[in-house]
Amino acid sequence: MSDSRESHSRAEISFVVNGESKTTRAYPMERLLDVLRHQLQLTGAKEGCGEGECGSCAVLMDGALVNSCLVPVLQAQGSNIVTIEGLATGETLHALQEAFLECGGAQCGICTPGMILAAVHLLNRKPEPTVDEIREGLSGNLCRCTGYSQIIEAVADAARRRTHA
Ligand code: FES
Ligand code: FES
Repeated sequence: MSDSRESHSRAEISFVVNGESKTTRAYPMERLLDVLRHQLQLTGAKEGCGEGECGSCAVLMDGALVNSCLVPVLQAQGSNIVTIEGLATGETLHALQEAFLECGGAQCGICTPGMILAAVHLLNRKPEPTVDEIREGLSGNLCRCTGYSQIIEAVADAARRRTHA
């Protein structure tokens, strides 16, 4: 079979999502966002722009923050992916999820999963970020509702809770 025909065939793709091994059949160039949402029913990652500009589809892949609308699923082969569904522990929300709720950092909610994953990525690298570092860490994520101040407060609040827990 030619290379071009192979690229049009579904392939078996395996990765770990939120701690669980998953194997799916997908076209290699299918978007990771679509595989997560439509095949694995992980609908937390949202499609905003579909062009890598808004961050609403962000997930963690091997610890890096990626816009899943730009990732061909083949690239995720063998990787470790975390989506918003993987943050809570049973009924207990992640500190960032609680802080977003309490500070009004989530309104329509389209940007929220990507914002929270960008914040997780930031706090993993900088447990006590300054406001400027929070702005910088979330600069790839757009919000049309909140004006950002509640989001920044939520991240700062979660960082305080974690460092003083
Ligand atoms: Fe992926 Fe906007 S939907 S960056
Ligand atoms: Fe609506 Fe951010 S809460 S886009």
